[in-house]
Amino acid sequence: MAKHIAILGSTGSIGKNSLRVIDALNSSLVACDSSLVSQVTSHGTQGTGYEIVALSAHSSVKRLAEQARRYKPKFVAITNADYYQQLCSELSDLDVEILAGPEGLIEIAQLESVDIVLTAVVGAAGLGAVLAAAQKGKQLAVANKEPLVIAGELLTKTVKENGGTILPVDSEHSAIFQAMLAGSRQEVSKIILTASGGPFRKMSIEDIQNVTLEEALAHPVWDMGPKITVDSATMMNKALEVIEARWLFDMPVEMIEVWIHPESIVHSLVEFVDGSVIAQLGRPDMCLPIQYALTYPERVAGIAEHLRLDEMSKLTFEKPNLEAFRALGLGFEVARAGGTAAAVFNAANEAAVEEFLAGKIKFVRIVELIERCLNKHNVKTNPALEELLDADAWAREQVHKSISMP
Ligand SMILES: NC(=O)c1ccc[n+]([C@@H]2O[C@H](COP(=O)([O-])OP(=O)(O)OC[C@H]3O[C@@H](n4cnc5c(N)ncnc54)[C@H](OP(=O)(O)O)[C@@H]3O)[C@@H](O)[C@H]2O)c1
Repeated sequence: MAKHIAILGSTGSIGKNSLRVIDALNSSLVACDSSLVSQVTSHGTQGTGYEIVALSAHSSVKRLAEQARRYKPKFVAITNADYYQQLCSELSDLDVEILAGPEGLIEIAQLESVDIVLTAVVGAAGLGAVLAAAQKGKQLAVANKEPLVIAGELLTKTVKENGGTILPVDSEHSAIFQAMLAGSRQEVSKIILTASGGPFRKMSIEDIQNVTLEEALAHPVWDMGPKITVDSATMMNKALEVIEARWLFDMPVEMIEVWIHPESIVHSLVEFVDGSVIAQLGRPDMCLPIQYALTYPERVAGIAEHLRLDEMSKLTFEKPNLEAFRALGLGFEVARAGGTAAAVFNAANEAAVEEFLAGKIKFVRIVELIERCLNKHNVKTNPALEELLDADAWAREQVHKSISMP
């Protein structure tokens, strides 16, 4: 049976890697190389195949049009509706339904013909579509962590109630998911997320004051979209991942730790009650977690280069510097606070990163603005979706207002 896939955000870093993974999975199924065929056959996926039903972009019309030509999806969505006409002319000779705006994204996430919705949109913009997919009981492969941060309780509940599944694509969460298979949930004593530490890991608080946009965008290990690259530099990404892990694995925050691991080989670890620690290792390459989320529960040969132990001279772990990287400490506080706190935390970050990427504020102001916003916010417990969205909008407004003030 073929698996039918919608990729939300197919023109971004995760989206493009997902298409590479799917190309490789499909070509290995028809490979003439007999060893590859027998490898695939031995895992029972021969003859299945991965069919792209829908793709989306926000404004990258040319790239989306190229992808549509190559993969021939039945639907494409362009979420920035200003580009709808341009996309229509690009694809006028193709038999494809073109949708526009955030509603278009929701529509492709709910398509009857789609089995797997791979969410690779950046930021809170993916929330409506992932909730819509969860309501339809889809198999979710989630890279877009922000919706889980904002509405983790609601989203995981919706997945359960509608008989869907949720598989992590984030490399750390994929590692935890894989390590968790070594025991039962009750046997887990803690989960340990690893972090590369980003480009400013070794800097003092004073040095961080003057880092530039260019320096913040130069991640030492991972090649990612601009927002997550800045989040890695502030360590906000790890803070978001703590909250993501809290919901994905239904773990109290007290059972979650973060350790800096600059080599980015151990993608995360799970400690069990008997003291055993199970880790997942691999090269820093998103193709592996993407593929695992697509082929789970099976494992098949893929394009991710294999780890060579003789190439690794050492694996190091150190405690994060919570003074220099205040965002991480805030992430733990927000995860403990629950309610609307994470929606404010995430939205303030998105707004501040947007201003930083536009060259309007210094790097260090990102976390200052987030903290100021959190301090002003009265957390609401057990929020409904509307209240989460209001908290999100309020936080964005606060950040933009603070910046425009002299
Ligand atoms: N990159 C990684 O290695 C990595 C690893 C783990 C997790 N993640 C997570 O995966 C998600 C995607 O990251 P990325 O690095 O792939 O980001 P990216 O390269 O910036 O790509 C983002 C994708 O989302 C689309 N998009 C942008 N704004 C949108 C909006 N308002 N509404 C709908 N779609 C929008 C973009 O379309 P256009 O091309 O038209 O702008 C693009 O297709 C993030 O949540 C990130 O935290 C990424």
